[in-house]
Amino acid sequence: MKPIKVGLLGLGTVGTGVVRIVEGHQEDLQRQTGAAIEIAKILVQDKSKARSIAVDPDKLTENPWDIVGDPDIDVIVEVMGGVSVAKDHILTALAGGKHIVTANKDLMALHGAEILAKAAEKSCDVLYEASVAGGIPIIRTLVEGFSSDRITKIMGIVNGTTNYILSKMSQEGAAYADVLKEAQQLGYAEADPTSDVEGLDAARKMTILATLGFHAPVALGDVGAKGISQISKEDIQYGKQLGYTVKLLGIAENNDGHISVSVQPTLVKNSHPLASVNGVFNAVYVYGEAVGETMFYGPGAGELPTATSVVADLVAVVRNLKLGINGRRVLAPYKEKKLKTDEQIAYKNFILLQVEDKAGVLAQITQIFARHEVSLESVVQHPDAGKPQAEIIIITHDANQASMKKVLDEFGTMDVIHAIKSVYRVEG
Ligand code: NAP
Ligand code: HSE
Repeated sequence: MKPIKVGLLGLGTVGTGVVRIVEGHQEDLQRQTGAAIEIAKILVQDKSKARSIAVDPDKLTENPWDIVGDPDIDVIVEVMGGVSVAKDHILTALAGGKHIVTANKDLMALHGAEILAKAAEKSCDVLYEASVAGGIPIIRTLVEGFSSDRITKIMGIVNGTTNYILSKMSQEGAAYADVLKEAQQLGYAEADPTSDVEGLDAARKMTILATLGFHAPVALGDVGAKGISQISKEDIQYGKQLGYTVKLLGIAENNDGHISVSVQPTLVKNSHPLASVNGVFNAVYVYGEAVGETMFYGPGAGELPTATSVVADLVAVVRNLKLGINGRRVLAPYKEKKLKTDEQIAYKNFILLQVEDKAGVLAQITQIFARHEVSLESVVQHPDAGKPQAEIIIITHDANQASMKKVLDEFGTMDVIHAIKSVYRVEG
C-alpha cells in the first residue's frame, strides 16, 4: 500500500512533536486511517542546527520548493509560524492540489477566508485544530459536535501566558511586572510579550472560534482587544473581596444573528467554571440553545499537546483521501455578519473610583447612573486612611455600552471624582 507522504514546514516545538507522534503512534495511525503516514521532507531555516530528535538529515531542506513543489507529497503540515511566507507556501501547495494542516492562528485569523476559498476551488482540505487552544479539540467540537445546535455564547481563556500571570498575581498578591519577569525567566512568556499580554493572540483565536461557532465571517478587526498590562494588585484584591477572579476572557456572543466579539480582562464570579482555570491551562465555555452550558479544558500549548491536534487533523485528511472526499468538509461561513452596536452590547460592569470623601458625592454619582438608565447591583466604599478621599467600587446590572460610555464621560468631568481607576466587564 502506497504511504501518504507528508511535507512538514517547520521542526521547532510543534514540528518536533508531530514527528514524535507520527513515528511513535504509526501502527495506531495506520489502523485508524488504512494508510501508512510518512514524513517525507522537512523545511527548516538552518539544517545545521542541533535538534532534540534524530531525523534523517536527507529529509531536511532549506528550500521550500523541495516540498511545496514536490508532486509526490500529498499533505503539507505547516508549523513554521509567521504570516506572509507561510501563506505563500500554503497557497502554492493548494495550487498544486495538496491538502493542508496548520497550527497557525495568526495566518488563519488574517487570511483564513482566502485560504479556504482556494482550498474549495482545488477540492483540498485545510484543517487547523491546533490554531486555537493547542491540545483542546475545540474546533472539531464546534464544527462537528455542535453542528445540530445554535451557539449563542463562546467564552475562552485561550492564552496560557496571561492566565499564568493572572493566576500568580491572584494566588501570591504579586504585581504584574514582577510576575511577567518571572514568566519570561521560566520560558512561559516571550521576550517580547506584547502579542500575549495585550490580548492580540487571544483576539486571533476568538476570530477563528466566532467565525466557526456563528457561521459568519468575523474578521480580526471586529474583535475589540484589551490586555492585562494595566491590571493592578488592588483590582485583583477588590475582585476577590466581592467573590470574583480576574481572567483575560475572549467573549463572543450571538443574539438573533447580531454578533459581538471582544477580549478583555473580566471579573468572573468564583462559582463559574472558568474562574478555577489556573496557570497555563486553557478552557473554552460554549453555550448552545439546545445543549445549554458546556466547557472544554486542557493544555493550550506545548510540544505534544499541540502536536496531538495537528496529527488528528492529519488523520482526518488521510481518512478523506482513502474515501476520496477531500474538500467536502465545508468550514466556510454561510451567514451574513451583523455586528452589534454599543446600544446592543450589554453586560455587568465593575467600576473603581477614587473620590472626594464628603457629603453628597455618592448622591451625585448615583444620579449620573440614573440619568443614563444604568441600574446598580452593589456599591461599596473604602475610606482612604488619613486622607479626605475614598475608593468606591460599583457593580452595575447589565448595562449597554453606549450608556456606560456616557456615564464614564460625565465622571471624567467631575471635580469630586479624582480618578476612574478601573472599569472591567463582569461575568457569571
Ligand atoms: P518554533 O519553535 O519557532 O519553530 C518554527 C520552525 O519553523 C523552526 O523549525 C524553524 O526552523 C522553521 N521556520 C521558521 N520560519 C522559517 C522559514 N522562513 N523558512 C524555513 N523554516 C522556517 O515555532 P512553534 O512554537 O513550533 O510554532 C509553530 C506554529 O504553531 C506557529 O504558528 C504557532 O503559533 C503555532 N502554535 C504553537 C504552539 C506551541 O505550543 N508552541 C501552540 C499552538 C500553536 P529552524 O528550526 O531551522 O529555526
Ligand atoms: N502564546 C500562546 C499562549 C501559545 O500563551 O497561549 C499558544 O498559542
